[in-house]
Amino acid sequence: MQIDLTGKVIIITGGGSGIGRASALAFAAAGARVVVANRTLGKAEAVASEIAAAGGEALALGVQVEHGEDVRRMIAETVARFGGVDVLFNNAGISPSGSVTEISEDDWDECLNIDLKSVFLGAKYAIPEMVKRGGGVILSNAGTFGIRAAKGKAAYSAAKAGVINLTRAIALDHAREGIRCNVICPGYVDTPLTAGVPDDARDEFLGRYQPLPGVIRADEIAQLAVYLASDAARMITGQTFVLDGGQQAGLYA
Ligand SMILES: NC(=O)c1ccc[n+]([C@@H]2O[C@H](COP(=O)([O-])OP(=O)(O)OC[C@H]3O[C@@H](n4cnc5c(N)ncnc54)[C@H](O)[C@@H]3O)[C@@H](O)[C@H]2O)c1
Repeated sequence: MQIDLTGKVIIITGGGSGIGRASALAFAAAGARVVVANRTLGKAEAVASEIAAAGGEALALGVQVEHGEDVRRMIAETVARFGGVDVLFNNAGISPSGSVTEISEDDWDECLNIDLKSVFLGAKYAIPEMVKRGGGVILSNAGTFGIRAAKGKAAYSAAKAGVINLTRAIALDHAREGIRCNVICPGYVDTPLTAGVPDDARDEFLGRYQPLPGVIRADEIAQLAVYLASDAARMITGQTFVLDGGQQAGLYA
């Protein structure tokens, strides 16, 4: 299916790397105007330049998604540049390791703020602007660890589970204002986030737990996001979309 998002304005947090970068390129290729928001401004600018070089329109912003002031500024600068907001993709995230006895309070707070509070802040400040345009779409990137926890990933598993149920709450609260809200749960995707995993450990993990052979690519997650943001998905809200090569189908090992 060829999806046309010409004229739509999308903000992608964490758009400077991995799934966010792939999504920024995919939304631009579908005709959208893209705001690439990233903690490191240089990474956002590099992706915005790629979009411009391909003939698209993009704005790079330095934003820390866990700070309300930054998120408010992100929405305001988007409206000032493009006239409104149609889609917000809450993609930025970190993935610290540790059980509850291992992880520090500071690391717990940082993970919950970046991975979960950011979704609250993004929705809180984007929805009023979307309503002015008759509606909009909020997408978030959780992960399969939000559905079933992973050993040694206490904060991340808790934050991503929170994103899934917050998605449902936003969907219920704002459906009558024309807002749709859905969440994507990728399995293991090759990105800078997972680059620290040695190839042999990755292959052993995938061979053991992922029924479909091969490694999920960031652009495959991006295509799902493009579909969910489009009018083709106009009756889909409050849902969790798993793209994991079959891991969540059941025990495979
Ligand atoms: N890669 C995977 O296997 C995988 C699996 C499941 C879920 N996810 C989720 O997908 C999302 C993207 O992951 P990725 O693999 O592309 O990671 P990545 O590390 O390649 O990209 C994440 C981007 O977010 C930015 N970022 C981090 N903290 C930020 C903050 N506080 N404010 C603004 N930007 C910030 C980083 O600078 C980076 O550009 C994350 O939410 C991650 O949890 C990834």
